[in-house]
Amino acid sequence: MTVKKIQSSRTSAEKMFYNDCMGVLEIRKYPEKILKQKTTPVQTIDGITQRLIDDMIETMQAVHGVGLAANQVGIPQKLCIIDLSLREDKAPLIVLINPWIVERDGSVEAEEGCLSIPGYLTSIKRAEKVFVKGVNREGKNIAIEAEGLLARAIQHELDHLEGLLLIDRMSPIKREFFKRRYKKQLNEAK
Ligand code: CO
Repeated sequence: MTVKKIQSSRTSAEKMFYNDCMGVLEIRKYPEKILKQKTTPVQTIDGITQRLIDDMIETMQAVHGVGLAANQVGIPQKLCIIDLSLREDKAPLIVLINPWIVERDGSVEAEEGCLSIPGYLTSIKRAEKVFVKGVNREGKNIAIEAEGLLARAIQHELDHLEGLLLIDRMSPIKREFFKRRYKKQLNEAK
C-alpha cells in the first residue's frame, strides 16, 4: 500500500484536493448512508474521473477485493471496477461507467462478501448470466456477456450503484439476524 506524500509547497486548497483524491481511499462501511444512495451518471470522463479510477484500483488491490463501486469510496457516481485476476487467470480489469444490465438469464445461488460489510459472507441468489452495456474509461461503448463469477461480480457492483447492499437481497428474517449480529460486533470492536 502506498501513501502519497503531499508537497509542503502546495496551497491548502490543493492539499485538500490531493488528500481527497489520491492513493488508497477509505472504504465506506455499512451502515453509512452513502451506500444506500443511488448514484448519478458520470457526465464527463475527465482527469478527475481518471484519477478516481486509478485510486479505486489501488484501493481495491490494497485489500485484495474483486470489485469496488465509486460510492463505496464516498463518490456517488455510476462507476465501478471489477478485477477477478486474483481468482481467475488472465481476467482483465474492467472499468464500467454508467452501466446497465440489458438481459439476464438463469438463476444461481452462491456465497458473497462485500468490502463494505467486512467479515461477512452470505448466500445470494443472482442471475446466472448477464449482458451488460456501459462505457469504459476511454469513453468507448462496451458490451459484456458474462457468466459465473464475473456475472455475479457485475450484479453485485451494479447493486451498489443503485444503493443496494447484500443485506437488501436477504430475506427479512435473515436481515434482522444479520443486523443484530453486526451491531453486536461493532459494539464489541469499540
Ligand atoms: Co460490495
